[in-house]
Amino acid sequence: MTSDSIHGMWSSRLMFILAASGSAVGLGNIWRFPYVAGENGGGAFVIIYLICIFLIGIPIMVSEIVIGRFARKSPINAMATAASKSNASRKWQLVGWMGVVAGFMILSFYAVIAGWVLSYVFQLGSGVFVGISGESAEQIFKGFVGNVWEVLAWFTIFLAITVVISARGVSAGLEVAVKYLMPILFFLLVVLVIYAAVTSGHFLEGVNFLFSFNFEKLTWNSVLEAMGQAFFTLSLGMGAIMAYGAYMPKDASVIGTATMIALMDTGVALMSGLVIFPLVFANSLESSAGPGLMFITLPLAFGQMVGGQIFGCVFFVLVAFAAVTSAISLIEPAIAWLIEKLKTSRRVAALIVGVCVWLLGLGSVFSTNIWSDLFIFDEMTFLDSMDYVTNNIILPLGGIFIAIFAGWVLSSMILDSEMTLDGWFYPVWKFLARFIAPAAVAIVFFMALLQV
Ligand code: PHE
Repeated sequence: MTSDSIHGMWSSRLMFILAASGSAVGLGNIWRFPYVAGENGGGAFVIIYLICIFLIGIPIMVSEIVIGRFARKSPINAMATAASKSNASRKWQLVGWMGVVAGFMILSFYAVIAGWVLSYVFQLGSGVFVGISGESAEQIFKGFVGNVWEVLAWFTIFLAITVVISARGVSAGLEVAVKYLMPILFFLLVVLVIYAAVTSGHFLEGVNFLFSFNFEKLTWNSVLEAMGQAFFTLSLGMGAIMAYGAYMPKDASVIGTATMIALMDTGVALMSGLVIFPLVFANSLESSAGPGLMFITLPLAFGQMVGGQIFGCVFFVLVAFAAVTSAISLIEPAIAWLIEKLKTSRRVAALIVGVCVWLLGLGSVFSTNIWSDLFIFDEMTFLDSMDYVTNNIILPLGGIFIAIFAGWVLSSMILDSEMTLDGWFYPVWKFLARFIAPAAVAIVFFMALLQV
């Protein structure tokens, strides 16, 4: 079991960290976190989110890495192997299956939104937002997403980029992408935070909004949202990190590495908030604008600022990079499984998965135009429903099973051998994975259910 994965390996611990943070840092941090935090009143939501990251997220991330690194296979087969080596039922592979389904569902809407982002790189760059009114900014957005062909084209381009990178393999594709894109992303983000701090004149207001804890607005539903966001942003509950863990070298501590990834991801989310909210407040815009925050409010804000055309364009380039490095992890579980199952090449597997995601993604492409009146759950379009169901239900559910599996089912021989470098963190992790993480997710589910 100590041999390498047939899919390839990360060339170092640092490459694993870059790849996993590339997976974690994405639209979840830059598009979703600020608007969900804004809708849920800011500070109090943020604190619940942080608690979820540390008490639930990190333990589950560790669980995923351990299972993946032990078995060195796609999540479906990793669960089956880890279970049978622990004398447990191979049915545990259903958790892997659930993850593959979740990955398809997430990528199908994720790539649509990433397509919007690509288009916005050019729109911001062209200067159409310079000096315009709020209404025009909204019209530009509505006009764009209302045009089925344009949305379809950008979605297809984004998905094609993802498939091409994946098809090139772990070393020549995934690793090369994260090696260049992640450092650029971090650099651009720092530049933008400085830009917001220096030019907006409302930086402290943004800080205040994110960190002042007003618990009045908090409901169990917003706690569920915060927990779902924690799962989504750390790429947990669906096997992405398990798949990446399968390519991780043995000479790195699991808990230390997972904690670094989580800290990096959280840092990026908070920094995105510190770019977006000061700009929003500087222009007296609404912090609770919803999904449109990044596509209407923010371009509008950039349009009012010195250098907004360039910095706005840069901002969307950053978001696009973040989205690509997440998208390649969303399809990795399915691709790795197909390669193992069909004994086919990575190219063929990537193409098959890409076509399936493309077909499912049409539902989200149509959600803002020809199917904009089609609601699956109350008031939710196809796109919104995919987002809601995966984040708030499937990922946390997958997370419970993964934590229980790693904490209770996985043989202690396997655990001990994967955790030799973790010292006293190991018993702490075990306690969190066995008791706290599953119980916390279950309680939040239950309370949110009771309330609606
Ligand atoms: N973590 C990614 C983001 O924040 C999304 C993602 C979810 C990626 C699940 C992989 C698995 O954008």
